[in-house]
Amino acid sequence: MEVSSRRRALLKVIVLGDSGVGKTSLMNRYVYKKFNQQYKATIGADFVTKELQVDDKDVTLQIWDTAGQERFQSLGSAFYRGSDCCVLVYDVNVLKSFETLTNWHDEFLKQVDPVHPDVFPFVLLGNKIDIDELQVSEKKAREWCSSKGDIPYFETSAKEDYYVDDAFQSVAKVALQTD
Ligand code: GTP
Ligand code: MG
Repeated sequence: MEVSSRRRALLKVIVLGDSGVGKTSLMNRYVYKKFNQQYKATIGADFVTKELQVDDKDVTLQIWDTAGQERFQSLGSAFYRGSDCCVLVYDVNVLKSFETLTNWHDEFLKQVDPVHPDVFPFVLLGNKIDIDELQVSEKKAREWCSSKGDIPYFETSAKEDYYVDDAFQSVAKVALQTD
C-alpha cells in the first residue's frame, strides 16, 4: 500500500490465539477503555477501528478479533489475506496457550502467503500478568520471539490496563513497515 504523507494509512491487523487468553478484552481495553470480567466467546470474526499516530503519520488500525474456539471459526481464515500485522496472544498463566503459538503463527503465514514470510510483522502479547500463577517466564517468551525472527513482546493486562497502549502502538509501527 502506498501512503502519501498526508493520507491516513489503513492497516489491517489480525488478533489470534487460544480461546480465553483475552483477545477480545485487549481490544475492548484499547479501543473502548473498558473491561468485562465475564467471558463471552467470540463467534466468527469482527473488526474495530482505532485512529492513532506513529511518529508524525496518521494511522487507522483495523483490528480483527477472531474466535479462539475452533467451532466458532465460521469465517475460516480467508480474511487473513491482506493483513499488515498479526498479533498473537497467549495467557502467561496457561502453558498450553503458549505451546500453541507456533501453530497460530505458522497457520497464519500459510494462509497469507506473504512474499517475504521471514520478515512479516508479528507482535506477541503475554496477557493476564495481573494474575499471580505464572507458567511462562518472560525469558521463555522472548526466546520464542527470537526463534521466529525478531518479534516484539509485551506482557499485558487487559484488566488492569498494563502496557495495552504500548503494545498496540508497536503493532501500528511494525504494520507500517509493510507499506
Ligand atoms: P475467545 O473469544 O473464545 O477466543 O476468547 P478471548 O481470547 O477473546 O478471551 P476474552 O477476552 O473473552 O477473555 C476471557 C476471560 O478472561 C474473560 O473472563 C476476561 O474477563 C478474562 N480476562 C481477559 N483479559 C484479562 C486480564 O488481563 N486479566 C484477567 N485477570 N482476566 C482477563
Ligand atoms: Mg474473544
